[in-house]
Amino acid sequence: MAKETFYTAVDIGSSKVVTVVARVGSEGELKVLGTGIAPSHGMQKGCIDNIEEVKEAVRGSIEEAQRYVGKGYSPSAYVVVSGGHIHSSNVRDVMEHPTDLGSITSSEMHRFIQSSFPTLGEGQEILHIIPIGYAVDGLSGVRNPIGLHANQVELEAHVAVGDATILKNTVNAVESCRMPVNSLVMQSLASAEATVTGDERELGVLFIDIGSGTTDVTVFQYGSPWLSMVLPVGGSQLTRDLAVAERIPFHVAEEAKIKRGNVLPEMVDPNEEVILSGGQGQGQKLVRRKHICEPLNARMYEILQMIVQGMAQAGINRLPDGGVVFTGGSAEIAGLQEFTENVLGEPVRIAYPTGVAGLPTQLRKPGFSSVVGTLLWGIKHQGEGRTYRAPEGSTKGYKSLLSIFKRTREKTAR
Ligand SMILES: Nc1ncnc2c1ncn2[C@@H]1O[C@H](COP(=O)(O)OP(=O)(O)OP(=O)(O)O)[C@@H](O)[C@H]1O
Ligand SMILES: [Mg+2]
Repeated sequence: MAKETFYTAVDIGSSKVVTVVARVGSEGELKVLGTGIAPSHGMQKGCIDNIEEVKEAVRGSIEEAQRYVGKGYSPSAYVVVSGGHIHSSNVRDVMEHPTDLGSITSSEMHRFIQSSFPTLGEGQEILHIIPIGYAVDGLSGVRNPIGLHANQVELEAHVAVGDATILKNTVNAVESCRMPVNSLVMQSLASAEATVTGDERELGVLFIDIGSGTTDVTVFQYGSPWLSMVLPVGGSQLTRDLAVAERIPFHVAEEAKIKRGNVLPEMVDPNEEVILSGGQGQGQKLVRRKHICEPLNARMYEILQMIVQGMAQAGINRLPDGGVVFTGGSAEIAGLQEFTENVLGEPVRIAYPTGVAGLPTQLRKPGFSSVVGTLLWGIKHQGEGRTYRAPEGSTKGYKSLLSIFKRTREKTAR
């Protein structure tokens, strides 16, 4: 199959729709040719709830991105997906391989991987099957069996599945804009492509894309994804909490969160005051900045707690040695690094998208890691076709979430 030269990534987020068209030059360098950003409408926590509104937003972003793309462009996109309907599990499958067949070929392995389906629930479709390790004739820990002679290959794979109808709606929304879909890419894997280093994947890392409507998580270990989950909560919930606490309109709370918010209230001057415009007819009001930070702190603590509980339920009873990497628009909230280090006792990094030289300034923000990562994913996986089918002492008064791991270990030991 001829190598593609144009790549298009579409990210239908809960707050914005982004399309990026890029081209691989003769030297192999990736150059962004066009970017289109439109406010998102009709999305609820990563899922479509009004297809006509979504189509409109997608069309706007695609048209803007294509405006300056030259001749020879054949539209086809890699599209980010998210939402609480996405689940992951690790499955095993065995391939018998009579010795007279010679060594294992890459096409044979590809067919085997694609046929290793887990038992799907009703209405579920496969999003990704990612090999995480092989055992060859009983010898485990083999990273790549291609080229080996063997009688039997056992595959362990990370499999992500989603709701077939929701995934189909996403494809329809994009394809109705005359943009055929190459493949869907789970948001956390897409974002990780532009942010998580090879060393972090090897050492193990808890990777979190915290956006507006969802928080997309993947735990990497030994170079591969081991656990992926999508929490239907993100930055818009932080804004809503603040709006309710201070009885102010959502847009006022959003501005206050971005300009004056901090998820670690201890970091702000306890006497500092902020002027907020109140609801209709209420005029302005003066509030302590600390009071803006408190609901943000409570919700962020709850999000971290949900992540740690999800890991513990999946049998991951400690944080990976490589610490925590955050990206997504809400990763820009002040105090996130310090707060998470306090609560989890591991180093935390806030990641911006990398991997594309000369990335336009507007895309150099954590909220664009998923669309940039989707381009990189497309290049890496092109031609594969469409698969849908704080240490205790430093917690500074915050309850460390590490006790969740300890409790799960004790339960398992009993
Ligand atoms: N400086 C900032 N401080 C706090 N929050 C911020 C900041 N900048 C952006 N955000 C928040 O980031 C969120 C948008 O993030 P992002 O663009 O990653 O979401 P999305 O991709 O549209 O949605 P999702 O992936 O959740 O469906 C909004 O809730 C916004 O309030
Ligand atoms: Mg997003």
